[in-house]
Amino acid sequence: MTHTNPQDHIDAMLHETRVIAPPEEFRARARVTREAYEQRYRQSLDDPDAFWSEVAAQLHWMTPWTQVLDWQEPHARWFVGGQTNLAYNALDRHVAAGLGEKRAIIWEAEDGETRTLTYSELLQEVKRAANVLLNLGVQAGDRVTLYLPLIPEAAIAMLACARIGAVHSVVFGGFSVSALADRINDAQSKVLITADAGYRRGQAVALKKNADEAARQTPSLEKMLVVRRAGTEVDWESGRDVWWHEAMSGASDEHEAAALDSEHPLFILYTSGSTGKPKGVQHTTGGYMVGTYLTTGEVFDLRDDDVYWCTADVGWVTGHSYSVYGPLLNAATVVMYEGAPNQPDWGRFWQIIEKHRVTILYTAPTAIRSFMQHGDALPGRSDLSSLRLLGSVGEPINPEAWMWYWRVIGGERCPVVDTWWQTETGAIMLTTLPGAHASKPGSAGLPMYGVEPALMTRNGQELGPDEGGLLVIKRPWPSMLRTIYGDDERYRKSYWGEIPGVYFAGDGARRDADGYVTIVGRVDDVLNVSGHRLGTMEIESALVSHPSVSEAAVVGKPDPVKGEGVVAFVLVQDGFEVDPAELRAHVSREIGALARPDAIIVADALPKTRSGKIMRRFLRQIAAGKAIEGDTSTLEDPGVLERLAATQPA
Ligand code: PRX
Repeated sequence: MTHTNPQDHIDAMLHETRVIAPPEEFRARARVTREAYEQRYRQSLDDPDAFWSEVAAQLHWMTPWTQVLDWQEPHARWFVGGQTNLAYNALDRHVAAGLGEKRAIIWEAEDGETRTLTYSELLQEVKRAANVLLNLGVQAGDRVTLYLPLIPEAAIAMLACARIGAVHSVVFGGFSVSALADRINDAQSKVLITADAGYRRGQAVALKKNADEAARQTPSLEKMLVVRRAGTEVDWESGRDVWWHEAMSGASDEHEAAALDSEHPLFILYTSGSTGKPKGVQHTTGGYMVGTYLTTGEVFDLRDDDVYWCTADVGWVTGHSYSVYGPLLNAATVVMYEGAPNQPDWGRFWQIIEKHRVTILYTAPTAIRSFMQHGDALPGRSDLSSLRLLGSVGEPINPEAWMWYWRVIGGERCPVVDTWWQTETGAIMLTTLPGAHASKPGSAGLPMYGVEPALMTRNGQELGPDEGGLLVIKRPWPSMLRTIYGDDERYRKSYWGEIPGVYFAGDGARRDADGYVTIVGRVDDVLNVSGHRLGTMEIESALVSHPSVSEAAVVGKPDPVKGEGVVAFVLVQDGFEVDPAELRAHVSREIGALARPDAIIVADALPKTRSGKIMRRFLRQIAAGKAIEGDTSTLEDPGVLERLAATQPA
């Protein structure tokens, strides 16, 4: 059993000096050499037009672009005037090149059922689904919300939207009714695609039931398309509800991909920010396509015979860019697993790797830490010799977990690429290229092509090597978000207004003399719980919407597996009592189980300044069980800290 403490990780990361050179056998065959990276990286900054034109030209365009970039800060247009279609590039292009019989998706359910779709089969399904959407009245530019389990239909629906120019908004299946309703309303979606239920730890988890409830609060919704996944009973509203399989069997499998403007919106994906309202991150077609295509090919050193598995659900950006779009654009064979990592036990991932001869695994540090806790014996029981490359994403990976991944899973044979990026960046921004660069465990690494990172102070002063500061990106890149759906002002302010002239990532980091960037964590009120972004204000609003709570403050605390855990300080409403179990259930209902507080501390007051501002710094120290450090003299009632520290969390 290994126990790790993230607080120690931060120190460990900053003092980590190990350097792991690329394994020689890998290096000798790698797609990108160090010299090639250096030359191309330089070109990408010195002559971005030439660089990006060459990459984009590897894809199919119905009309060529006339200008690579039009940058009117903070608004970028990439491949201006070009027309293309992402689904065409991910499917038709490969079938036309003779890859129709190649496996596109190998899907596995928790009970071991598998389904394989070749590129021809996937293309046919996507064409049919495109016709289904058109038959339901969906037009280019209309929004379609997806609320699905991780089944092939999720990818089919996304690609069908992309094919006709409808804008998908995927809502993670673990989100609650109200989270779903909020997202449908914000996007004003016309159609919702859901399933009767999905499976999680052997249980059928109802989705249609949530969708029905959400639909009562979403006037824009006209149709609900329902995939029969579990065969469970569902309520049915005739006129509104349509079975996916019935619609598909009645639809033609002929469809020509729409020629869409390069800047045509592709999807909206909601993510947490520092206010209570999630942001609808808006991506567009051409730039996102080029960015995910390039990074998937090069960061994962993709080859024709790879079996590639990114474990992320399509409800998150990693699932968009690296479970679906990036790998399919590269004609890869993609593994998709619907279930939990510990079903029937913590060896399930290793069994899947053995069964499908997976060569590339891309997963999150939280999963790696869970596996690590369950020891080396379980991975030892499966044949992992097919693996040749490992990736990590979503949160900082502590050096200890990195070393375990490298040693136990990769057998010191597979390079480990740590990849830093965000919902907003669309594609990987910082990493090491396997074969080209040595890894420094705990450090994300070097910039990808076209990415110009810097570390700055709040007032925009650039910092030197080894100085900790705010991570910014100094120029636009193709796969960057274009706006916040319906709130361009928020886009302008949150990303290009914090420090004038640069993209503000919201992460604290430092960069060493070799240019390797180590991410320390968020500098705003955003938590990263098991690699999932959660806003403290979202959880606070959920808490105060319960009658027993008059005020709430939420902070993160280091957690050995999840990275961060959620700690809620709550004040009780007069005449009520707080029932911690009920409050947790309430947060699950309001947001989703992923936001459930790990600890609830019932307080008589919160540490506030005289002007009423909550001093979260002190709450974080209390949550972590640390001694109070810092100036407490500005507090209205300094005694509150002692009382809070003495309170047993529930
Ligand atoms: O804090 C960084 C962390 O996750 C944030 C982005 O979250 P999200 O938009 O949900 O996207 C996650 C998947 C790309 C970042 O601001 N983060 C992501 N990857 C890493 C990371 N922190 C450290 N190292 C990483 N590799």
